[in-house]
Amino acid sequence: MSQPPAIDLVSAAAFANGQPHEQFRWLRRNAPVYWHPEPHGRGFWAVTRYHDVRAVGRDPKTYSSYRGGILIDDPGGPALAESRNMMLMMDPPQHTRYRQLVSRQFTPRSVQALRPRVEELAAKIIDRVSARGECDLVRDIAGELPSYVIADLMGIPLEDGRRLYELTEKMHASREGAAHDERSLASIEMLNYAIGVAQHKRQHPGPDLATQLLHSEIDGDRLTPAEYGLFFMLLINAGGDTTRNLLAAGMLALFDYPEQRRRLQENLDALIPAAVEEMLRYVSPVIYMRRTAACDTELAGAKIRAGDKVVMYYGAANRDEAVFTNPDEFNIERAPNDHIAFGGGGAHFCLGAHLARLEIQVMLREIFTRLPDLRPAGPPQWLASNFISGLSRLPVKFTAD
Ligand code: HEM
Repeated sequence: MSQPPAIDLVSAAAFANGQPHEQFRWLRRNAPVYWHPEPHGRGFWAVTRYHDVRAVGRDPKTYSSYRGGILIDDPGGPALAESRNMMLMMDPPQHTRYRQLVSRQFTPRSVQALRPRVEELAAKIIDRVSARGECDLVRDIAGELPSYVIADLMGIPLEDGRRLYELTEKMHASREGAAHDERSLASIEMLNYAIGVAQHKRQHPGPDLATQLLHSEIDGDRLTPAEYGLFFMLLINAGGDTTRNLLAAGMLALFDYPEQRRRLQENLDALIPAAVEEMLRYVSPVIYMRRTAACDTELAGAKIRAGDKVVMYYGAANRDEAVFTNPDEFNIERAPNDHIAFGGGGAHFCLGAHLARLEIQVMLREIFTRLPDLRPAGPPQWLASNFISGLSRLPVKFTAD
């Protein structure tokens, strides 16, 4: 065994410069299902190899989302009961019934129909910065599009989408990034907002997801207020900072690999789709999802007991040298590229995958067409989170319009 790096996948400090790939590499090689102690908890299994992560994600009978939620921290009794109203924390067959309520809006076809509107919003975002010659790529460009697109889909004002996305950030911060109270207050503000939307949509229904959810039924019953609020929160939370982080950290990768960037810029039509897939693999904005073992089981030789926490590290799996050649290299023409940044293909596979791809493709094209000499203007800053990976700041400059 090579000398192990200190293993810490919990503190925000471990993610201060991006995902801890040195640790992941060591774990994949030496302890692919590693017992990770926790300063504030009972410990968990860290799963870092591609095929093991996929196996866990595709087996909800053995690895449940319902039993303990999807975050490493164990939710307390009332919080766990409450969170089980969100489909992310459900197991099939209950999960299947909830997901069907909204899945039609996220098919490749429905998403393609949104393209003109997404292009219009992307142009508007670049219009706002193009005369300035400099901006923060995270705040002024990358964060805007996902919050506007989801606001549009939900049928709420674009500016409210912006505020909700700030709340998402607070909720996704780690212990060190935001105090518990701050995270709870952000959840409460979002749930209150959802109640207000429900009231408004009852009087002013529209062709939007917020109205549709109001009339949705599970086994003949309308959603309860708690179910409605958490569905709303999930749709807002899931696609905001993830998509933003993919774009910003993906642009940073392009800055770090100027030759790849040059090739992309010279041939946007042909290379954008594969470049986006490589950004997804390389950045892996969702660091992990947790499951809880429903029974005693074994994974890669590790004896897992019923009730144990099992954590799938997507960023580690996406650098698995058994699956990807030169995994630490950013290569926009990588083929095949079966990354699992959206999950390993189980029941919870990202509902918004097609939408996220569309948003990033459209935004990349808009950036490279309108701001072709965009370049870094200062050091990037990474987010203090062990759950969602990305940049909190990336100063850039460019020739003003
Ligand atoms: C780059 C952007 C994104 C990334 C990397 C990402 C990643 C993920 C991952 C890893 C999961 C969990 C998969 C699993 O447990 O198997 C997930 C679930 C989910 N994502 Fe995304 N996502 C992104 C954008 C979006 C967008 C734009 C939406 C739009 C609403 C969205 C909605 C959801 C929802 C609703 C779930 C829960 C699905 C379920 O429980 O059935 N995501 N996403």
